Amino acid sequence: MTILITGGSGFIGSALINHLMHTTKETIVNLDALTYAANQQALKHHESSSRYHFIKGDIQDKNLLRNIFTQFKPSAIMHLAAESHVDRSIESAIPFLQTNVVGTVMLLTVALNYWGKLNALEKESFRFHHVSTDEVYGTLGEEGLFSEETPYDPRSPYSASKAASDHFVNAFYHTYGLPILITNCSNNYGPNQFPEKLIPLTILKCLKNESIPVYGKGENIRDWLHVEDHVKGLTSVLKSGQVGEKYNIGGDSQRRNIDVVKLICKLMNDKCPRNAGNYEDLIQFVKDRPGHDARYAVDHQKITSELKWNPHIIFDDGISKTIDWYLENKEWLFSNSKALSDGYQVETKK
Ligand SMILES: NC(=O)c1ccc[n+]([C@@H]2O[C@H](COP(=O)([O-])OP(=O)(O)OC[C@H]3O[C@@H](n4cnc5c(N)ncnc54)[C@H](O)[C@@H]3O)[C@@H](O)[C@H]2O)c1
Repeated sequence: MTILITGGSGFIGSALINHLMHTTKETIVNLDALTYAANQQALKHHESSSRYHFIKGDIQDKNLLRNIFTQFKPSAIMHLAAESHVDRSIESAIPFLQTNVVGTVMLLTVALNYWGKLNALEKESFRFHHVSTDEVYGTLGEEGLFSEETPYDPRSPYSASKAASDHFVNAFYHTYGLPILITNCSNNYGPNQFPEKLIPLTILKCLKNESIPVYGKGENIRDWLHVEDHVKGLTSVLKSGQVGEKYNIGGDSQRRNIDVVKLICKLMNDKCPRNAGNYEDLIQFVKDRPGHDARYAVDHQKITSELKWNPHIIFDDGISKTIDWYLENKEWLFSNSKALSDGYQVETKK
């Protein structure tokens, strides 16, 4: 079996490819445009494998997509390529419309054309797995969880673009019968995440002895899932999920942002003490993100009962090991921080 993975050089995509390369015999084709968020180091060790093929390109490029389908004849697509950072979507929504919506529709269109020409058996087993986010459901109050039936209510340009892409994926199932699967996952953390996101940014700021920006009062709540648990959930859904269905994937680890930042500071005090004072002293509350969703939390009963998937990595253990990884890969962290300051900085939003 050959799996075409889009966005395979990103944070989750690279963890997914590593997982598939280690646990299966599938051939992997990674199509990635190598934007600022991509990380080629995470997959370097697969470059010599005959089972791994990397193609640099954009999911909006119809001819490239056609050629890839013709050459590699994939039996599944796992679609992760996206613009993924909410703050960037607030700065400019257009790249989010282009990649997340137009790119997804382009991929669906070419996949549908390819799928239409397969024989009956190949048609039956083909899957288009769209990887999405819990942010499409909007925001929660103090009570409750997002279920697969929660109506969509996206509130940032990022989540609006992901919601639109989910709707197109569904439409291709209902209109043309393309065998799709959708997963909506909560916030991921782990190695190789670009340091514009809360956890690696906090570690980076500690190491640079710079102020750690926390939006508002840091009271927004996210449900954290280790990326390794996520990729196991993705492969379960690809293998055994019901065609046309969506599955929520969550970590059962709701934490306020300020508590995540304080936990990182506490662990950093032990692992890599500051010359003077504690890392907590670097925390600086900054003007809140516009339209900042208060709480996300996911009910993952469906994937747990149907596919026997559960999150396994306890947040406090996972975060400690994640910090260890960034400390062992400081060079990577600092080189990416250069890319950060070249363009976009969280602090500019004060
Ligand atoms: N990170 C999370 O917490 C999280 C949670 C739930 C869902 N998701 C979804 O999972 C997917 C992967 O997220 P991530 O955190 O790994 O993102 P990421 O930003 O780390 O990686 C995205 C990858 O897509 C590539 N890419 C971007 N535009 C492209 C284009 N036009 N053509 C080809 N490749 C392109 C980038 O080069 C990068 O390698 C996204 O669809 C995201 O919406 C992420």
